[in-house]
Amino acid sequence: MEWVHCHIARQPVPPNERVTGVPGPLSAIVMKLLAKTGEERYQTAAGVEADLRKCLADLEVYGCIDRFPLGEHDGSDRLLIPEKLYGREREIEALIAAFDRVVAQGTTELMFVSGYSGIGKSSVVHELHRCSSRRVACSRPVSSTSTSATPHTRRWARPSRALSLAPHPKRGELGRWRDSLSEALGPNGQLIVNLVPELELVIGKQPPVADSPPQDAQNRFQMVFRRFLGVFAREEHPLALFLDDLQWLDAATLDLLEHLVTHPDVRHLMLVGAYRDNEVSPSHPLLRTLDAIARRERS
Ligand SMILES: Nc1ncnc2c1ncn2[C@@H]1O[C@H](COP(=O)(O)OP(=O)(O)O)[C@@H](O)[C@H]1O
Ligand SMILES: [Mg+2]
Repeated sequence: MEWVHCHIARQPVPPNERVTGVPGPLSAIVMKLLAKTGEERYQTAAGVEADLRKCLADLEVYGCIDRFPLGEHDGSDRLLIPEKLYGREREIEALIAAFDRVVAQGTTELMFVSGYSGIGKSSVVHELHRCSSRRVACSRPVSSTSTSATPHTRRWARPSRALSLAPHPKRGELGRWRDSLSEALGPNGQLIVNLVPELELVIGKQPPVADSPPQDAQNRFQMVFRRFLGVFAREEHPLALFLDDLQWLDAATLDLLEHLVTHPDVRHLMLVGAYRDNEVSPSHPLLRTLDAIARRERS
């Protein structure tokens, strides 16, 4: 996951800063090839080739390479749809600011992005992934105003409290996760393995979980899931979770959501939910859950 994050968000060090003697233009070509968004990279192999040949020609004739504008022979014969999002700076900043609060204060933040289908809810939230390495301190207030043409964000925050964690024992990475997970899940690991079968590779075969009456089973599941999240949502690695298309959530999952964001043990967690507000009537279970959470926040 760390590599995936670097791939998406971390700017690499340019080659000519790593190794003296690498010509600036050559370094710039490498950086262009590594650009984060597709439209900033070379679009054609012929475009890279032309720039490399120019470098070679300069080197052979003058013994050095002059700076030159890159990508001049990089015309693509295909229509390219840019990955960039336009006019969503305010919404993206609000999400980043919330994540920064989680990082800095260890709070639990719940953000909602609403709007009709196709307006750009998922895209806005995915921008957080790209930007979450920037630790921007954003002083702009989070506004809950919206027009029907923009997805809007709302938040509830809880006051923070200090939490100190014992340092992990110095052992292999996987062993540490196994220990943390086993400790958190106790005898109920199978409940999470049912959800995430790959987890068995980390924590091994789990004993079967005893049957219990439905209400007890639900409480137990909420507790186990909360503890499971707690393994990842920690001071040293805060967690952001994105739940898309909340308008389709069933009642039990909404209860789980409410449990997670209102339970005092859950910290260092940012939950982002997106839903289509035009498919959510005032009596929709989602809005009732959001109301219930808001009422608890105020009380
Ligand atoms: N502000 C924007 N700038 C550029 N493209 C956008 C913008 N908002 C949405 N899009 C594009 O519109 C499409 C639908 O967006 P999506 O995030 O899937 O919408 P939603 O999740 O609200 O249904 C995507 O291809 C996305 O890239
Ligand atoms: Mg979507």
